[in-house]
Amino acid sequence: MARSPLQTKLCDMFDIQYPIILAGMGGISGPISGPELVAAVSNAGGLGVLGCVFMAPQEMDEMIRKTKSLTDMPFGVDTVLPAEVPEKGTTAEFKADLSSLGQEQDELVKRLVVELGVDKSEPADSVKEATAGHSMSEQADDKAWSADLFNQQIEVILEHRVPVYAAGLGDPGPWVDKLHQHGTKVISVVGHVRAARKVAQAGVDLIVAQGHEAGGHNSRIATMPLIPQVVDAVSPTPVVAAGGIGDGRGLVAALALGAVGVWCGTIFITTKESLFEHYLKQNIFRGTEDDTVVTKVYSGKRMRVMKNALVDAWEKSGVPTLPMPLQSISILPIMDGAFRNERADIIPTPAGQILGMIKEPKTAKQVIEDMVDGAEKVLAELSTSKAA
Ligand SMILES: Cc1cc2nc3c(=O)[nH]c(=O)nc-3n(C[C@H](O)[C@H](O)[C@H](O)COP(=O)(O)O)c2cc1C
Repeated sequence: MARSPLQTKLCDMFDIQYPIILAGMGGISGPISGPELVAAVSNAGGLGVLGCVFMAPQEMDEMIRKTKSLTDMPFGVDTVLPAEVPEKGTTAEFKADLSSLGQEQDELVKRLVVELGVDKSEPADSVKEATAGHSMSEQADDKAWSADLFNQQIEVILEHRVPVYAAGLGDPGPWVDKLHQHGTKVISVVGHVRAARKVAQAGVDLIVAQGHEAGGHNSRIATMPLIPQVVDAVSPTPVVAAGGIGDGRGLVAALALGAVGVWCGTIFITTKESLFEHYLKQNIFRGTEDDTVVTKVYSGKRMRVMKNALVDAWEKSGVPTLPMPLQSISILPIMDGAFRNERADIIPTPAGQILGMIKEPKTAKQVIEDMVDGAEKVLAELSTSKAA
């Protein structure tokens, strides 16, 4: 029997049934692609990837253990490796630097705390319970934002012999050999051809080319022109498409562009297993294709999020954003108040332009089944119209 076009090289590489990868997603308050979502995707025939961005090694270790207890199928771990972060440093240390490094930003933040009304509110009961009375900013004081952390994170991945490592940002080149020696395949997420060539030369196993439509950090180039150009530039290294893919039509389109599969974020963030805040999920259900914007306000790097009051006020102020990680640390006083009151109009809702397609909560298994059924339908229609 002929092999289905959906049984791609990606399925062979990772020993999975469908060429669908759950993007490793982390949020401002913790992982979104946590063990339950990752296991649900892997158990449904895709590849789940844990979102461990800037996560402490101990927490990563716990997440990996939990995931292993929920699935016997392959899964991955995603971290980011931005080149510009310093060798060492915690939130508390960077906070001390901010008064000299980001005075203009510091003043704007103080003004916005008042203008956005996040200054003197009582915490919601659920928040009091979860934080034991500590502000988000205080809780983050020990958090490391450094290249030193990246090495520690990779050590945890090596120790657990996780089947797949994905670098969501930056160049995993220096770690490729070591990861391979431990049996871990390496994915690199890129937004342009130059970066794709560089990581292909470094020997990564798979490149995710992520377009402008994507939620979270993304590229200046749209997915449609990006994929074929990356595919041509790095052949024979396989390429997976990301950005703006949320159903079977998108999956078939990605394969038509030369990709061996898809890496999806937005379509999974409202799933029942996702750890995205419940009130931010409501933003998604209300959203349309026109409700996102690309901004550096939350991380210092270009990120697609839903339009909201904070992005609007900061952009109007004309004050430049700080580089990663200082920008995220500079806005902590606003985030403190916003989290205290579950302010869905201030906390970032990273999401891509497929937003308008998501109207109800589904399980991860349903998302995958719908995508596969939709793709099979499109493929059947295409072959029928060709025969007619
Ligand atoms: C809520 C959210 C959080 C994200 N967090 C991360 C992250 O921590 N690391 C990462 O590599 N990519 C992250 N991304 C980007 C995704 O990995 C992925 O490339 C993107 O979602 C694909 O486009 P789509 O949103 O149109 O599916 C995030 C995306 C979203 C929507």
